[in-house]
Formats: sequence, structure tokens, C-alpha cells
Amino acid sequence: MNRKVNVGVIFGGKSAEHEVSLMSATAIINAIDKEKYNVVPIGITKEGSWMLYSGPIEQIESGEWEGISNKLLKDKPKENVFSIIPVGKEDHSIEQVVPMGLANKIDVIFPALHGPYGEDGTIQGLLEMADIPYVGAGVLASSLCMDKIYAKKLFELEGLSVVEYVVVLRNKLKKNMGEYIAEIEEKFEYPVFIKPANLGSSVGITKAHDRDEMIKGLNEAAKYDRRILVERSIECREIECAVLGNDDPMASVVGEIVPSHEFYDYEAKYFDDGKSKLIIPADIPKNKSEEVRQMAIIAYKALDCTGLSRVDFFLEKETNKIYINEINTMPGFTKYSMYPLLWQETGLPYDKLIDKLIKLALERYDDRY
Ligand SMILES: Nc1ncnc2c1ncn2[C@@H]1O[C@H](COP(=O)(O)OP(=O)(O)OP(=O)(O)O)[C@@H](O)[C@H]1O
Ligand SMILES: [Mg+2]
Repeated sequence: MNRKVNVGVIFGGKSAEHEVSLMSATAIINAIDKEKYNVVPIGITKEGSWMLYSGPIEQIESGEWEGISNKLLKDKPKENVFSIIPVGKEDHSIEQVVPMGLANKIDVIFPALHGPYGEDGTIQGLLEMADIPYVGAGVLASSLCMDKIYAKKLFELEGLSVVEYVVVLRNKLKKNMGEYIAEIEEKFEYPVFIKPANLGSSVGITKAHDRDEMIKGLNEAAKYDRRILVERSIECREIECAVLGNDDPMASVVGEIVPSHEFYDYEAKYFDDGKSKLIIPADIPKNKSEEVRQMAIIAYKALDCTGLSRVDFFLEKETNKIYINEINTMPGFTKYSMYPLLWQETGLPYDKLIDKLIKLALERYDDRY
């Protein structure tokens, strides 16, 4: 391509991680090499309306972009909308933009979206249908990584250790609570972790220290998903590794995250003014970090990841054993986030990382028969 490549950066979205996405997208847009790329910011409101955004980048993070887009849309609808496709319901207004018509204007999309409706294969499917290359994992890998139960099953198939778990079905919870409790108490000692199978960012996750808390935790998790996992709680250090690439992925140095709360919950992650500490590289023995890096690559390939992923581990203090916890296919992407910082430490600075991700997206797309 001799002309500049048009990169659509999608941000916001319907997930609980809307705000985090605004931060990631702002950092990405600011760092994209403007000599090589034109940026087309595309915001999705919490209600799911898509809007092109042509206002100041500084007003994305605060959420002000939404009002600005709305105003621009009313003033000059034609100029602000690539294509308006009336979809489904009658109450869809003009700002209901669907990206089908973007294909001829946008060369590649960077979906800077985290969690459900972003990291879970849904937007990836939409982009496949619209025939637009995009950064990151494909449909299957995205949804597998989002599903804590299926991800564990596949990790186990590769011989990677996962923390022991029990699966609970929401529908059977009322009738079979007694049986579930018996099964869990037989298998684990308190505390246990209770997690909805399909959410990210610690939403709906609780740590239960006794039976009462477990029942509460199960009911809480049931608000979010039909399937729930109950896991043995381990005394651990949290180690993370960044992976980058398509068929021959590379692993970064490893980092450690030291949470400020009892566990690395939503509050600790985003609202504690950075009191959770990132230690890069992690202060662990060389053989352990090598083990983590190898496991990260095995896991990445096992779930068919492409582009990028942050692979998260637990290092059990008592046994020194490494468990794989999960893969995040669109990890937090601000300049202070673990994923880019790990690459920086490995020798790939933020702007080069963005460039590499866009190239990987185009490569994956061109690789098709
Ligand atoms: N079995 C466990 N033993 C000890 N701590 C745990 C366990 N499971 C989860 N945790 C703690 O809870 C945090 C959140 O759990 P987990 O990473 O599984 O959820 P998540 O919502 O998918 O997070 P993410 O936002 O990274 O996708 C972990 O970072 C860790 O601090
Ligand atoms: Mg996690």
C-alpha cells in the first residue's frame, strides 16, 4: 500500500470495561504513527450505538466524545456517518451506525474493547462478516479465552496445570444447592473463589470464607452467567506474560502484579490510583520465568490466539508450582498497563508495538486463500 493505511480504532462498548476501553484507545490513538496511518476513531456508547468521532482525542477518556459525536451527527449527518443501516428495532435512531460500509474506507480495525462485546468474539465476527482485517484474536480464540471453563479444559489437554474447580449450573442452583455445597466442601477447604464463566475484570467474582459466603457468592455469580466456577483458593503470587504474533508467537519477559486489595478485583484494577504494583521484570528465579514463558506460548497456541494476548499465571507460594489462570486477548492497553510495559522491558516500545500489531492484523488477513 503506497497511501497511508486507514486504521479504525473502536472504543467504549457495552461492557463493564467501557471506561478502561476509553483509556486504552486514547493511548493507542496518541501513539499511532501518523506518518504511516490515518486514525478513524469509532465510539460505541454503553447502549450500543456506533458513532464516528472526529473531535479532540483528549475528550475520549472523559466520555465527552459522546456528546460531541451526537452534535456533529445532528449538524452534518452525511459527513459523519459511513453508512447507516436501519437494523431491527424501530427505535434505532440515525446514530445507529453499523460498520458494514466501512470496508472501502477502513483498511484495518483496532478493537480497543475489553470484556464481553469486545474481547469475546462478537465484534470479531462482525468484522469477519464485513471483511475488514482487525487486530488481535479471531472469533474462536476470543470466545474461548473469555470462557473460563473451556479455556481450562484446553489448557489441561496441553498438560498445563490449572487450579482445581467445580462447575455449577445456575438453573440447578436452587434445587441442588445442597449437593453442590457437599461436592465443593468435599473437594476444597475454604476460602474458595466463585466466578461467572464468561465475564472479565473480576465482575461477579467473590472469595468465600465460609458456607454462608459461598451461597451468597453463587447467587451473585448467577446474576451474570448460566455457568459458574468454584475454584480452590491458592496462596499465590500473580505472574503475567505478554505474547505477540500469529503462527510463531513470541513471549515477553514476565511481570508480577501485587494487588492492593485482598484479591485483584475490579476496584483494585481501575480505581485505586495505581496502588496495585507492577513489578517488571518479576523477581522470580530464571527457571521459573522460563517455565512461565513456555507455558504462555503453549497456552496461546492451544487456544488459537493471534495478534496479542496477556497470559496470567499463579505461582503457588507453598509448592512453587505454576498454574495458568487465564488469557486476555485484549488486555488493558494504556501506557501504564502490564501488556505494553512487558514489551517495553523486552525491547519493543509502545509505538513500535502498535505498528507491529497492525502489521500482524494485515498479515493474518492476507494469509487467507
Ligand atoms: N483460585 C484463585 N486463588 C487465588 N486467587 C485467585 C483465584 N482466582 C482468582 N484469584 C484472584 O482474583 C483475581 C481475578 O480473577 P480472574 O483473573 O480469574 O478474573 P477476571 O475477572 O477474568 O480478571 P481479568 O480482568 O484479568 O480478566 C485474580 O487476579 C486473583 O487476584
Ligand atoms: Mg484476571
